[in-house]
Amino acid sequence: MRAAYIEELGAADAIRYGEIPAPRPGPTDVLVNVLATTVNPVDTFVRSGRFPTPTDFPFVVSRDLVGTVAEVGPGVTGFRAGDRAWCNSLGHGGRQGAAAEQAVVAADRLYHLPAGVDPYAAVAVVHPAATAYLALFVHGRFHVGETVLVAGAAGNVGSALVTMAVRAGARVLATAGSRDTRYCAELGAADVFDYRDPELTEKIRGAAPRGVDLYLDTAGVNDLETTVDLLAHRGRVVLLAGARTRPVLPAGALYMNDRSVVGFVISHATSGELAEAAAYINDLFGRDALRPRSIEMFPLSATAEVHARMEKGELHGRRAVLRPDLPTLSGRQTA
Ligand SMILES: NC(=O)c1ccc[n+]([C@@H]2O[C@H](COP(=O)([O-])OP(=O)(O)OC[C@H]3O[C@@H](n4cnc5c(N)ncnc54)[C@H](OP(=O)(O)O)[C@@H]3O)[C@@H](O)[C@H]2O)c1
Repeated sequence: MRAAYIEELGAADAIRYGEIPAPRPGPTDVLVNVLATTVNPVDTFVRSGRFPTPTDFPFVVSRDLVGTVAEVGPGVTGFRAGDRAWCNSLGHGGRQGAAAEQAVVAADRLYHLPAGVDPYAAVAVVHPAATAYLALFVHGRFHVGETVLVAGAAGNVGSALVTMAVRAGARVLATAGSRDTRYCAELGAADVFDYRDPELTEKIRGAAPRGVDLYLDTAGVNDLETTVDLLAHRGRVVLLAGARTRPVLPAGALYMNDRSVVGFVISHATSGELAEAAAYINDLFGRDALRPRSIEMFPLSATAEVHARMEKGELHGRRAVLRPDLPTLSGRQTA
C-alpha cells in the first residue's frame, strides 16, 4: 500500500511517500480503508521527536482518519465491512499512523461516523474537538452556568471549545485576533476581546467581576501571574499548549482561593475517555453543530509539504485534509 512514513525522526522532509507492506488486523482490531487523514501540531512533534513516543520504523505518520471498514478481527463486535468510521488516536503510543491507504485500528479506538456526515469535514475536527472535550469536561471539571474564558478561540481547539462550552451552558468569554472577532461571536461567545489589546486584562475583569471559573489557553501564552488573579474562588486554569513557557505562579493567590492549575495531553487519554469524547462529538456531528472553519484538500503524497506548512504557520483558519485517492502531484513521489 502507499503511505507517508518516516525511517528516522527528523524534519518535515524526512517524510517519505511510497509503498510499504499493508498491515494485518489482530483478533480485536479493525482494518480500515482510509478515506482521509489530516495533520495536527502533535503529528509534527511525533515526527521530529519533540513528543517522545515509540515509533517502529518504517513509521506511518498521522493520528486521525475517516475510512471504511475493510475487515474485522474475529473478536470484534459492533463493526462490519463497509461501515464508515473514524479514529483520532493512531500514530503514537506504539500504534502506527493513519497516513496510508489502509490502517489497523483497535476496535475500542474506532467510532462509527453518523450517516450523512461529510468525512472530510469530520477528519478535520476529531482531534481538536476531542482535545476540547477533555479540557472542558475531564480536566476542567466544567459545571453548568460557569464563566469560561477561551484564549485562542478562533483556532482549531479554541473554536471547538467555544462550541462545546456554549452548548453545555457556559457564558463564554473569548480572546482572538481582531480579524477573528466575528467568527468567535458566530460560534456563540458572549464577549470577544482582541488578544493584542493593551487593556485586555482589565476588560476581562470587567466582563467577569466575580472571576473566571475556567480559563483555557489554547494559544499557550500561559501567563499565570495574570490569569490566576482573574479566576473566581475555586477557579481552574487548564494548560494544554506552550511547552516551552516558564510562567511565574502567584502561589498565595492560588491556594488561598482554592484555585488550581492542571495540565494534560490528549496522548495520555484512556480509550474510555476518548470513547466518551467520541460519543459527544458524534452527537454534535448528528446535529450539524461541529464543523471546521475551512478545509484544503491535498493528495496523501503531499504529507511532507503540509507538515512544513504547518510548522511555518501557513495554515491560519484552514485544516489540511490528505486523501489517498487524489493523484500524486508530479515530482512528489519520494520513495
Ligand atoms: N494538550 C493537548 O492534548 C493538545 C491537543 C491539541 C492541540 N494542542 C496544542 O494546542 C495549541 C492550539 O492548537 P490549534 O490547532 O488550535 O492551533 P491554532 O488553530 O493555530 O490556534 C491558535 C490560536 O491562538 C491564537 N493566538 C495566538 N496568540 C494568541 C494570544 N496571545 N492570545 C490569544 N490567542 C492567541 C491564534 O491567532 P492568530 O492566528 O492571530 O495567531 C490562533 O487563532 C497548539 O499549541 C497545539 O500543539 C494541545
